Amino acid sequence: MKVVVGLAELRLARESLANPMGLITTMGFLHEGHLSLVRRAVQECVSVGVSIFINPAQFGPTEDLDNYPVDLERDLDLLKAEQVDLVWTPTEAAMYGAGYQTWVEVEELTRYLEGEIREEHFRGVATVVTKMFNSFQPNRAYFGQKDAQQAIVIRRMVQDLNFPIEVIVCPTLREADGLAMASRNSYLNPDERRAATVIYRALSAANELFNTGEREADGLRAEMVTLLRTEPLARAEYASVADPETLEELHGPLERALLSMAVFIGETRLIDNMTVGEERGSYAVDD
Ligand code: PAJ
Repeated sequence: MKVVVGLAELRLARESLANPMGLITTMGFLHEGHLSLVRRAVQECVSVGVSIFINPAQFGPTEDLDNYPVDLERDLDLLKAEQVDLVWTPTEAAMYGAGYQTWVEVEELTRYLEGEIREEHFRGVATVVTKMFNSFQPNRAYFGQKDAQQAIVIRRMVQDLNFPIEVIVCPTLREADGLAMASRNSYLNPDERRAATVIYRALSAANELFNTGEREADGLRAEMVTLLRTEPLARAEYASVADPETLEELHGPLERALLSMAVFIGETRLIDNMTVGEERGSYAVDD
């Protein structure tokens, strides 16, 4: 496994990797969720690259950029064990040098959910992912359903900007009690860690309600809110029932939805989601 820091080194190393090449972009402090994307890429691609870069452009001024967990040595050991070919750990100065002023904005899809609260977050994500795509030139890129809106925004961007890259979205990996794996879970103290399970319990309760026939968006939303209120350490920022394609909030009867939420457990902000209902099928005209 080759680990490089400079862009020129990266390009040179990439040239000797065979296609199809799969890329996993990360901010490090890797867990099984990240590794599930890596394993999928290793299975499906001839070569695999990983980026590790805590991207300042996607953090707001009051967010946890300075405290974001780091353990590069451990990350590299984990990636080596998965047979990753190439890891890029660029510096902030190289990614956003003096005079930097070019940004990628995905408009409509970023007005809702995380985008509504975290101003400029998706501008930072879309821009850094574009830079990763241009640097690695992967054939495939793997993202987690854990960050559902991010995956939808990246898919849109790839389509709109003609990136010759297949975007593959992989299921959310969870701890045994349902908590979605996340680097930020490391901030939780034992009481908060127990409290954090309310997120999965709230999503599961709404999912179950859907499965027993509830089709009103407001009923599903109320179920999540009710569950979240049972946990004194939890403070929900939003609990949403949205259209899984446009991300607009739904009211009234629905066939499918993205259930998602952002919840503070103490000082730690966690997000999670579940989809309910059949995905819209694509039917060939001569079917
Ligand atoms: P990060 O939070 O490190 O996540 C990297 C990738 O791992 C993302 O595609 C994310 O959705 C996926 N992932 C995280 N937790 C997961 C879980 N429990 N199950 C499955 N996949 C999971 O997301 C980012 O970094 C950044 O925004 C990035 C795309 C790297 C741009 O800076």
